[in-house]
Amino acid sequence: MKDYSVTTAVCPGSFDPVTRGHLDIIERAAEVFPRVVVGVLENPSKKPLFSLEERVELIRAAVKHLPNVEVDYFSGLLIDFVRKVEGNLIIKGLRAISDFEIEFQMAMNNKRMAPEIETMFMMTKNEYSFLSSSMVKEIVRFGGDVKDLVTPEVEQALRRKYFA
Ligand code: PNS
Repeated sequence: MKDYSVTTAVCPGSFDPVTRGHLDIIERAAEVFPRVVVGVLENPSKKPLFSLEERVELIRAAVKHLPNVEVDYFSGLLIDFVRKVEGNLIIKGLRAISDFEIEFQMAMNNKRMAPEIETMFMMTKNEYSFLSSSMVKEIVRFGGDVKDLVTPEVEQALRRKYFA
């Protein structure tokens, strides 16, 4: 008989930097699935503000209260990373309708390449539905307040990047 239990869910992203919107999805995934692996994409062509190590460390600090969450990184295809960590599910947050098209494309392509891996979406909490890493960076860069949008460590790290 088939074993229907999902054992490992992967939360992928660039996390440049991690926001409270990402953390909301990671925390809720950790409530539902026994093991959650956050996969940070190393994508040199995107020129991130934070190095891969910085992005991983900021997430690790933010999820240290969640014993079933691990943080790792990958380059290349997401499905290869999911297979490497012996995952069977990709979990993503959906904000507005604007997210849907690209997420739909990615889910379809991933399904074509890896039929054994499912993609599921969680609706982002209302208060984070407008939130993105790019917005956070722009707000800090021009002197705005992001206290309710990121962790204190991320806020400090952003200030160091722009004003140190
Ligand atoms: O936080 P982001 O930048 O929206 O995350 C996008 C991410 C990392 C989930 C996506 O770019 C991705 O999966 N990249 C890995 C490359 C890959 O697998 N591409 C094929 C999917 S169609």
